[in-house]
Amino acid sequence: MQSKLPNVGTTIFSTMSKMALDYGAINLAQGFPNFPVDEKLIDIFKDSLSENVHQYAPMAGNPLLIEEIIKLTQKQYGRQIDSAEILVTAGATQAIFTAIQALVFKDDEVVIIDPAYDCYVPAIDLVGGKCVHVSLETDFTVDWNKVEHAINSKTKMLIVNNPHNPSGKIFTQADIQSLKQIFIKNHQLYLLSDEVYEYITFEEKHISINSIPEIRERAIIVSSFGKTFHITGWKIGYLIAPENIMNEIKKVHQFLVFCVNNLAQVSLAKYLQVVDVDSLGSFYQEKRDYFRTLIQGSKFEILPSEGSFFQALSYKNITKQKDTDFVIELVKNHGIAAIPMSVFYENNLDNQILRFCFAKDNLTLEKAAEKLCQI
Ligand SMILES: Cc1ncc(COP(=O)(O)O)c(C=O)c1O
Repeated sequence: MQSKLPNVGTTIFSTMSKMALDYGAINLAQGFPNFPVDEKLIDIFKDSLSENVHQYAPMAGNPLLIEEIIKLTQKQYGRQIDSAEILVTAGATQAIFTAIQALVFKDDEVVIIDPAYDCYVPAIDLVGGKCVHVSLETDFTVDWNKVEHAINSKTKMLIVNNPHNPSGKIFTQADIQSLKQIFIKNHQLYLLSDEVYEYITFEEKHISINSIPEIRERAIIVSSFGKTFHITGWKIGYLIAPENIMNEIKKVHQFLVFCVNNLAQVSLAKYLQVVDVDSLGSFYQEKRDYFRTLIQGSKFEILPSEGSFFQALSYKNITKQKDTDFVIELVKNHGIAAIPMSVFYENNLDNQILRFCFAKDNLTLEKAAEKLCQI
């Protein structure tokens, strides 16, 4: 049978999670938290069950949640948006897929920065677009000259992910200035800004494209409540884009899902009135620091982690094996699952680095660290 996505198999996340289960290994591979959800959110969810929330929500989102997203965007990024500029989606994945379907045409080029999260390329392939890959430098910084060189009159979209999965790097003011220059020069370009880890940054604060007027008029900005409130299983997020762009995205959304789980939307609307998103950074920073302290005596080299759930570790001092082979050895012989960084590159560049998720309870981190220190 002919395949529309001949190069797509099971994602590395499913593969490694299954291997972790099969071998009884500690799963630091997939990016989901394993600690309890905030009790306040559980109580709000239970209370909302008895309300009139069991039928379809309005297509673009429940007005209660839209109102809270407007307030949050104003408070966090000083951006005043209108309800017409918001779309509540079934997670960031659907947001990204929908935006690409709506905006990228056959033979349009889309610039992607590798290592890149894995849902961008298949969405572009399905519309017959062409992915143009630019690699990050070995320290995971962006060479903006390379990005600029990759852009031509056929380039419809640039996709960036900040804070970055899998490296844990975040954009500096200088990065944002370079991005601004690219958008000033290229009037045809849209920016798809994947900011799902926007509240999970450590020493430095996240710079959202919401706060950059020169870019946001042509930007589609992606957020995920799943990542922000450690409820990845709820699959709920949202997009912000100027109304003319959003109108096209909504045309696709209404025939893809029509609307998103209403009970989840109402619960999140009420939760946003009581939760402090600013405390998330320090919550995760403690986890990052704890994990880093625990593995300090190991042979792994601990690379910088500035945001996201992820800690990249180099194993150059341990073995010369390919990262895809070493992760299998780790699961089978050492009882720990990680993600090989090479799978996030189009050309499978292997710098002997693995990605570990530290969004786990302390006991899991302790057990994982004990294993890593024995290698
Ligand atoms: C960079 C990035 N974008 C998007 C997503 C998808 O988020 P969601 O679970 O809200 O669909 C993830 C999830 O791991 C991610 O890491």
